[in-house]
Amino acid sequence: MSVPASGLHQDDVRYLAMRDEIWRGLAARPRKLSSKWFYDEAGSALFERICEQDEYYVTRTELALMREHVAAMAKMLGPQVMLVEYGSGSGEKTRLLLDHLERPAAYVPIEISRTALRDSVAQLRQAYPALEVVALNADFTEPLLLPRPHGPVRRPVVYFPGSTLGNFNRREAVDLLIRMRQLMGPNGRALVGIDLKKDPLLIEAAYNDGAGVTAAFTLNLLARLNRELDADFDLQQFHHRARYNVMRGRVETFIVSRCAQRVSVAGRPFAFAADEAMAVEISCKYTVSEFAGMAAAAGLGVTHVWTDRRAWFAVVLLEPHPLANAEEIPMSIHDAKDLSPDGLPCVKNEGKKEKAQRKKAADENVDEALEETFPASDPISPFVPAKPRQH
Ligand code: TRP
Repeated sequence: MSVPASGLHQDDVRYLAMRDEIWRGLAARPRKLSSKWFYDEAGSALFERICEQDEYYVTRTELALMREHVAAMAKMLGPQVMLVEYGSGSGEKTRLLLDHLERPAAYVPIEISRTALRDSVAQLRQAYPALEVVALNADFTEPLLLPRPHGPVRRPVVYFPGSTLGNFNRREAVDLLIRMRQLMGPNGRALVGIDLKKDPLLIEAAYNDGAGVTAAFTLNLLARLNRELDADFDLQQFHHRARYNVMRGRVETFIVSRCAQRVSVAGRPFAFAADEAMAVEISCKYTVSEFAGMAAAAGLGVTHVWTDRRAWFAVVLLEPHPLANAEEIPMSIHDAKDLSPDGLPCVKNEGKKEKAQRKKAADENVDEALEETFPASDPISPFVPAKPRQH
């Protein structure tokens, strides 16, 4: 790009970043467009309507779960919580928490969309005039620092509802959980909403509602490219496809070209084959133990799980594993002479060769541990119907 950096307006920077990312996605094989582009104003409004569709059980189930258990959650979190939400929540779930927390110290929404952040903060300030609200216009997948509110904070708590974590693949999700752990610190906690594995037909229906709202939502991505990147997608010539991939435990959403066609995006031509699919979103479904495995890989332990009677959705309480913040653990070394300069404990009468062998073995153990943390492919554990629970 040969535009001089000076004189480049912030909106131009955003435009060029979006254009380049979309171009890259359209040039890739298979083509892939990031789901973050879904949420312009029209997309956000359509998503609100998805949440009201009969087939989309996710929002309703999570909300019912929160209503039933929020008092217990708030009690476990304790007083003077700084509530840090990933995404801007002005909605009912956030209010439930704020209503039940004992003397919350501050509310910190972290939201990438400036307009969404502005609107939700305005609503919350009106509903909670005494609460300190510190809005962060940022991407929560990037490293962040917490603000320091005026009042005393006993505990930072990250709230990540809506099963949004499921929109990241395993590796990205573990990275995000690591960032979460770093952000909340050793005394912090996280409350994360996860959608659980269940009958694939129920899951698939949730992403293919009969009224076509989800289809309109995914196709709005193309409409947005037409509006913002001067593209000429003919929306009639594309359709929405969402399938539950049982072996990978996730819904995969695509935009599919109905015919062979050419489209121009910000002046660059792209040719689509008939039936060619662009990947736009994944929504991972977990078992509680799969999720606990990911949390453990991020140095977090699951300390409580709230779920509905049908075990469709879960809200999980996480805390840092004590060893995950090892640099903060006070350490007493019994006898400093027992440690050699390379950090490996000395073994008496050990020759150079033995020591090298021991060091190699220690390194191999680390490699093995890493392989376990990040297996080359996603774990395979299809949904197995559970026996109905008595409660
Ligand atoms: N986090 C939501 C989910 O995975 C987002 C969502 C709902 C979504 N319906 C969708 C994303 C359809 C893309 C397409 O359930």
